[in-house]
Amino acid sequence: MNFLNWVHFFIVFHVFAGTPHFSLTDSSKQLTTNFLDAAKRPEVFDWMVRIRRKLHENPELGYEEFETSRLIREELDKLGIPYKHPVAITGVIGFIGTGRSPFVAIRADMDALSMQEMVEWEHKSKVPEKMHACGHDAHVTMLLGAAKILKEHEKEIQGTVVLVFQPAEEGGGGAKKILDAGAIENVTAIFGLHVTPAFRLGEVASRPGPLLAGSGFFEAIISGKGGHAAIPQHSIDPILATSNVIISLQHLVSREADPLDSQVKFGHTRISGEKDVMAEHNSSSHLFDKRDLGSKPWASCTIYLYDKMLFQGHSILRAFLIASISPQVVTVGKLEGGNAFNVIPDSVTIGGTFRAFSKQSFEQLRKRIEQVVTAQAAVQRCNATVNFLEEEKPFFPATINNGDLHKHFQTVAGNLLGINKVNDMQPSMGAEDFSFYQEVIPGYFFMLGMQNPTLEKLEQLHSPYFKINEDVLPYGAALHASLAVSYLLKHPQDLPSAEGKYHDEL
Ligand SMILES: *[C@@H]1O[C@H](CO)[C@@H](O)[C@H](O)[C@H]1NC(C)=O
Ligand SMILES: *[C@@H]1O[C@H](CO)[C@@H](O)[C@H](O)[C@H]1NC(C)=O
Ligand SMILES: *[C@@H]1O[C@H](CO)[C@@H](O)[C@H](O)[C@H]1NC(C)=O
Ligand SMILES: [Zn+2]
Ligand SMILES: [Zn+2]
Repeated sequence: MNFLNWVHFFIVFHVFAGTPHFSLTDSSKQLTTNFLDAAKRPEVFDWMVRIRRKLHENPELGYEEFETSRLIREELDKLGIPYKHPVAITGVIGFIGTGRSPFVAIRADMDALSMQEMVEWEHKSKVPEKMHACGHDAHVTMLLGAAKILKEHEKEIQGTVVLVFQPAEEGGGGAKKILDAGAIENVTAIFGLHVTPAFRLGEVASRPGPLLAGSGFFEAIISGKGGHAAIPQHSIDPILATSNVIISLQHLVSREADPLDSQVKFGHTRISGEKDVMAEHNSSSHLFDKRDLGSKPWASCTIYLYDKMLFQGHSILRAFLIASISPQVVTVGKLEGGNAFNVIPDSVTIGGTFRAFSKQSFEQLRKRIEQVVTAQAAVQRCNATVNFLEEEKPFFPATINNGDLHKHFQTVAGNLLGINKVNDMQPSMGAEDFSFYQEVIPGYFFMLGMQNPTLEKLEQLHSPYFKINEDVLPYGAALHASLAVSYLLKHPQDLPSAEGKYHDEL
């Protein structure tokens, strides 16, 4: 056992009685509270529901969101909001506020999935084999909702809110294209959200640090020599070779990745959210879970407490810590080869995805997938080529939330919804191209609950039976608007790179 992976260190809890939980100024608090009421007004709510249903009936795939883009621009025109278009083919970038720095961005993705909707309702998808099954119709609507209520308060905005309507989130890496176009230059922070049936309506969930995994795709063609199934000695069987390839790929995670992947560094740690830690501290088992260790790149960790003492009025806990930084996944989801009972085919195609949180683990997986596929195919005299499809499906980095924005989010969402509606979330192996923004500027991504326990249970994202609880729309609109406006109030001094420049260009 490698004891270097077991690190003990001191955790110092500064327990200040009566430290206020919220740090928003009164005017900011007032403003953000009003946004939820503003978004729930019938004229705003009904307008959002109409837009969302229109989008739902006409789903468009990545980089083909032409009608969606047009609808967005028509609504922005009606609201008197200037925008840039086209950005990244179908993208639209709107601006509300002074037109000067500081700039803060709020983002919605626009694309649908290629699948058949199975929900029978009045506003079912009118396009066969296309469906908004990931809720991006709701995301676009919420950003328009935010735009509407922000426009009503434009005079109070101390800077510029940048609306990012982004194409092609579902594998197309639209976020990367938006960045490449320079569209969010000079923006100092960005917020994004995703609807989810995993939490209740009116609740949100997220975490600082790693939230979603980095993700890549691969496709491999394993070629042999086809022939009669009854005389295999005259063929080179790619089906058997592929079977071994698939099994060997599973060993990358189960046998090569460190099950704990504990790259914990020795050192001091300052912990925020002390009250939560104290609440979770389970003294009888001397074990507690600490989910918030600032913005360090730890996916999750468990702290094993072994000592507790008082020092100058502070509680000092001594603990072992095991951090699981880098869970990994390799899945083969596609397998095509042969279509007769008695014929050995010439070749087999497989495809799949691989996920990891750290860049290092991700690169290692990529390298080993290529090696394993070609070498294992060669064992059975087959040739193989591996394609990582980076053009059509760029690798997504891990979604890593900024620690300061996490505090901002907790304050704003806590004020808007009640602090008990702001949940901590475990990291997930899902992926989001929002991560491209976070590689360049501080960004924060969170989940917005929409399950109503008194109504029917909603299906998961990407299900053909997926439904949106439309009551979620005002929550998304209000959160977008509040996060942006209060961010600007808190960061008045963020440097103007080109004072007034934006306005001239509009
Ligand atoms: C594999 O590639 C080599 C070199 O191009 C070729 O000679 C051989 O026939 C190929 N084998 C199969 C099974 O395709
Ligand atoms: C503490 O942990 C022990 C053992 O895991 C468990 O039985 C007990 O219920 C826990 N107590 C609290 C307050 O969570
Ligand atoms: C950002 O600021 C620079 C000046 O510092 C300016 O040249 C540039 O046009 C701005 N970017 C955008 C997208 O407006
Ligand atoms: Zn999706
Ligand atoms: Zn999605």
